[in-house]
Amino acid sequence: MTIRFTLNDQPFAYEGDPEKPLLWVIRDEAGLTGTKFRCGIAACGACTIHVDGIATRCCTLRAADAANTEVRTIEGLRGPAGEPHPAQSAWIDARVPQCGYCQSGMIMAATALLAENPEPTDADIDAAMTNLCRCGTYPRVRAAIHALVRESGVPS
Ligand code: FES
Ligand code: FES
Repeated sequence: MTIRFTLNDQPFAYEGDPEKPLLWVIRDEAGLTGTKFRCGIAACGACTIHVDGIATRCCTLRAADAANTEVRTIEGLRGPAGEPHPAQSAWIDARVPQCGYCQSGMIMAATALLAENPEPTDADIDAAMTNLCRCGTYPRVRAAIHALVRESGVPS
C-alpha cells in the first residue's frame, strides 16, 4: 500500500505498514529527525508537527491517516533560502531552549496557535500549548511568543 502526502511542500510516498506511527515514517523513512520521540502516547508534545495546519502529535497518528494531507515538520518551517522562520529567530533571541529536546514540538505548537490566534494572551498560550518541558522553559516560551507577535507580526 502506498500512502502519499505532501511533506514540507514536496510530494512524499511511503510504502509500508499503514499502521506505523507517522513519527517513524518522518524520522526513519524521510530522515527528518527534528521531530522527537519521548512519551509515545500523545502526552508530551515532543513529536508535534502540522497536519493540514493543525498541531498534531504524530507518535500516535497512523501513517494511513496522513494520506492526502499536508504535513509540515520543523525542517519545513525554514524559508526558501534556508533562513530561519521568525518563530525560530524569536526562540533564539529569547534564549528559550535549555536541553532543547522539546523545542521542535513547542515551536510547531506555537506557530499553529498563532495561525489561529494572532495575539494570544498568556491564558490562550497556556490553554493551547500543553507541551511538556522537563527543563521548565514555559515562561520563556510565553515571552518568545509575545515577542514574535510584537516584532514580526503573525508568522505564516
Ligand atoms: S512523543 Fe508524541 S506526544 Fe510525546
Ligand atoms: S528544553 Fe529541555 S525538555 Fe524542554
